[in-house]
Amino acid sequence: MIKAKGIHKSYGSLEVLRGVDLEVRQGEVVSVVGASGAGKTTLLQILGTLSRPNSGTVEIAGQRIDGMSDNALSDFRNRNLGFVFQFHHLLPEFTAFENVCLPGYISHRPRRQVEQRAEELMELLAMSHRINHKPSELSGGEQQRVAIARALINTPSVVLADEPSGNLDSHNRQEIHRLFFELRDKLGQTFVIVTHDEQMASMADRVVQMSDGLIL
Ligand SMILES: Nc1ncnc2c1ncn2[C@@H]1O[C@H](COP(=O)(O)OP(=O)(O)OP(=O)(O)O)[C@@H](O)[C@H]1O
Ligand SMILES: [Mg+2]
Repeated sequence: MIKAKGIHKSYGSLEVLRGVDLEVRQGEVVSVVGASGAGKTTLLQILGTLSRPNSGTVEIAGQRIDGMSDNALSDFRNRNLGFVFQFHHLLPEFTAFENVCLPGYISHRPRRQVEQRAEELMELLAMSHRINHKPSELSGGEQQRVAIARALINTPSVVLADEPSGNLDSHNRQEIHRLFFELRDKLGQTFVIVTHDEQMASMADRVVQMSDGLIL
């Protein structure tokens, strides 16, 4: 699902990634750990096509993404990648259900198909009873579950999560971690999860340890 080779990224004279290679198979849950500033978010953004490397190649689901135009990339991102961030970034004026559907509408899939999928995902994430709530009417854990449903709406090749439970209490944190594995088991979903949570990291199929711009 992911094949990244020789990724270098600098900001001015600051070399943040110094030659990173990473391969992730379908259905694998990989956690990325390392000290603050090690380059985890930078790597995730490059894998997610949100940022371009200075050199190196990235393949997602068999497609080379370096060299794609910005327009082609945003279309590719919408169809192939799901994102979950530390803060949910749900749109406050839309309901939970509408937030989940939005990336589906943007991809121009048939409306009915998108909404049916959204209903299934909300059920899978135990959110069926809250579909008409606005984000401000949801708890932190519920908001994050809506964000996960939104990430899954277009059946992405990979879900990239950057400290998805970093903003939650320990009960909700465990619940979110459990969900990632349930989604992998039920949907075969591939995940790359940056986390500072040792328990989450140890649950993953593989732990990728980053230090100072390199994978150890
Ligand atoms: N846009 C930018 N411009 C300049 N420097 C940046 C930029 N983005 C990140 N950096 C620097 O790159 C380094 C790696 O940042 P990154 O966000 O990838 O770290 P991280 O491993 O995700 O850390 P954390 O665990 O604190 O989130 C840091 O030293 C950071 O200051
Ligand atoms: Mg980070």
